[in-house]
Amino acid sequence: MSRNVVLIGFMGSGKTTVGRLVARQLGWKLVDTDALLTRIEGRSIPEIFATDGEAAFRERESQVVLGVCAGERQVISTGGGVPLREDNASALREAGRVVWLTARPEIVVRRTIKRASGRPLLAEGGGDEEPLTRVLRLMSERGPLYQRLAEMVVDTSDRPPATVASEIVRRLGGSVL
Ligand code: S3P
Repeated sequence: MSRNVVLIGFMGSGKTTVGRLVARQLGWKLVDTDALLTRIEGRSIPEIFATDGEAAFRERESQVVLGVCAGERQVISTGGGVPLREDNASALREAGRVVWLTARPEIVVRRTIKRASGRPLLAEGGGDEEPLTRVLRLMSERGPLYQRLAEMVVDTSDRPPATVASEIVRRLGGSVL
């Protein structure tokens, strides 16, 4: 019996879309840490980054994550940078079953390009760095962190979200219900 299901992974890996479907299948609540933070702050994530900077964003993001981890029967969809902090990572590990959603870099670029302005790390003046180069760089920095935290890896690249969600629920088995 697990308290929560936690989805981690890079921007554009499908955490929120898949999370909503997993939550529906389990009859649990979806909690999206980005959406919750935005609601608490009354500001968008790009606004928080622009006004207060990334360090302040990470601080508030962590407060939200630690608070959410106290709950139960939730599918927790996390912002892509949440596992960067060790205190977040250990809280997530204790909160429930951690699933890492992956997607190929080209797919991430395609999924995020339209809404890159909503993701400061992909939108901010990156000089000459191409989107794909930036995604590859961030992915290689973060891969080991995601890997260390997750007990299950599910690729979302070429599959409909509903198929991915069903696979997650099946692989989690009865232990989450
Ligand atoms: C971030 C990912 C975003 C959001 C913020 C920073 C990151 O969430 O928290 O823009 O550092 O990877 P998504 O993974 O939901 O896009």
